[in-house]
Amino acid sequence: MNLLLRCLGIAALLGSSLACPGTCACSLKKNGRLLAECAYRDLQEVPEGLSPNVTILTLSANRISSLWKDSFSEVPEVQSLWLGYNQISSIEPGTFAQLVHLKNLDLSHNKIVDFPWKDLRNLSDLQILKMNYNRLAGLPRDAFYSLKDLRSLWLNDNDLTTLAEGTFDNLPSLSQLQIFNNPFNCSCKVFWLKKWTENTSVSITKGGSILCVAPSRLKGRAVTDIPDHYCTAPSVQLTYLSNLDNTVMYDGLTLTLHCSVAGTPPPEVRWKIQTSSRSIEINRPNVARDGNILPPRRNKQSQEHFLVFKNGTMAIPNFSKEDEGIYTCLAVNDVGMREVSVNVALAGSENPADDLLRNAPQASHLGGRSCYKGDELDPSGAGEKLVIVYHMPRESKSKAGVVPQVWLGTLLLTLGIALCC
Ligand SMILES: *[C@@H]1O[C@H](CO)[C@@H](O)[C@H](O)[C@H]1NC(C)=O
Ligand SMILES: *[C@@H]1O[C@H](CO)[C@@H](O)[C@H](O)[C@H]1NC(C)=O
Ligand SMILES: *[C@@H]1O[C@H](CO)[C@@H](O)[C@H](O)[C@H]1NC(C)=O
Ligand SMILES: *[C@@H]1O[C@H](CO)[C@@H](O)[C@H](O)[C@H]1NC(C)=O
Ligand SMILES: *[C@@H]1O[C@H](CO)[C@@H](O)[C@H](O)[C@H]1NC(C)=O
Ligand SMILES: *[C@@H]1O[C@H](CO)[C@@H](O)[C@H](O)[C@H]1NC(C)=O
Repeated sequence: MNLLLRCLGIAALLGSSLACPGTCACSLKKNGRLLAECAYRDLQEVPEGLSPNVTILTLSANRISSLWKDSFSEVPEVQSLWLGYNQISSIEPGTFAQLVHLKNLDLSHNKIVDFPWKDLRNLSDLQILKMNYNRLAGLPRDAFYSLKDLRSLWLNDNDLTTLAEGTFDNLPSLSQLQIFNNPFNCSCKVFWLKKWTENTSVSITKGGSILCVAPSRLKGRAVTDIPDHYCTAPSVQLTYLSNLDNTVMYDGLTLTLHCSVAGTPPPEVRWKIQTSSRSIEINRPNVARDGNILPPRRNKQSQEHFLVFKNGTMAIPNFSKEDEGIYTCLAVNDVGMREVSVNVALAGSENPADDLLRNAPQASHLGGRSCYKGDELDPSGAGEKLVIVYHMPRESKSKAGVVPQVWLGTLLLTLGIALCC
């Protein structure tokens, strides 16, 4: 009652322009800011009747459990919003999106599981965001992307098991980060975090307490202590193989590409094929171990021409003009992705290089072989494109009937590949 009277008194003193809910205490600060103090009031809702001029609103230590889109519609100018130590578990999307002047937002010590991250996109003035002691289990990678002024981000004591690489990118002003006391699953998906902490100038509070709870071999260890050899980025090597040993039986040419990958955990192999008429992605083997084509549910018809084996080999029987194009092998694991491409073209028979074939030292090799390695230092990972040109004489000059020469351009002459039967 005492409090109420005081509030009323202040409200009366400041006139109607300082509208103040009965339960709060409002005061004009020296710098002209209007403070509405509504902390420790047992409030279950954001009170109504706040002045639109309120710039500081403290609602800490109440019993608020839900926030709605219009909860703060009376205070569009608010710059500091203190909501710590409530029981907030539900936040309607849009609750914060209008509060474009927010500089400080404290939502710590609540029960937030789902947060309307998109609301943050509007809060480009935000400098301090405290969400520690909640139940956040995940964050979108771009949750904080528009927060160019964000200096302090507290996410400790939540249920975060992982963080997507790049979560803290695009935060040029970030100087302090708290993410300790989260049950991190130290799969190689969070390995980037170790690398990031090693290089960043952001001060990471209690970095040694960013602990792994899984997998068991890393349990209790800090994320920053994940041994480097547990997680290595993929490397990829694209090998061109000739399997012409039985070409005699074929009336067509089979192009065989082999993608060998390395990395920890072992990378998955994916293929992208870009021909002049179509673009195909094959993300898993389409030939079973027994050699049968896998059922069409997992295997689009258009892919059937490209036989992708579990061991990283792709075979294209009856390789024709239509199959010319860029063949890309991608190696993907939790640490990253690398790719290497080869540009395959078929050339006509009248090509003078036919003669070269006979003179080339490699021409005597049975089963040509070439490889190209994804350059680890090349950030694009794509490296240079190799061009394989088969010269297929219309009239066979050899027993096998097909004497394709693989031509890898000027550079590739040194890698020299020749297929010969
Ligand atoms: C808000 O503040 C301005 C001066 O800064 C004042 O003129 C206006 O009356 C105030 N409005 C309300 C509703 O308090
Ligand atoms: C974001 O802020 C602008 C004003 O800057 C406002 O017009 C818009 O409605 C806000 N977005 C949302 C989702 O509220
Ligand atoms: C940890 O993450 C890995 C990779 O995403 C996953 O396979 C594994 O099941 C997760 N472990 C736990 C305990 O969640
Ligand atoms: C960290 O910085 C060092 C040297 O400045 C650099 O060699 C290394 O590649 C960087 N690591 C990452 C993950 O950026
Ligand atoms: C991969 O498996 C296929 C089918 O079993 C086989 O033809 C090919 O030679 C294998 N590739 C390598 C590099 O072992
Ligand atoms: C290749 O083409 C020939 C006819 O041109 C056909 O008989 C043969 O079955 C084809 N082979 C494959 C593997 O598609």
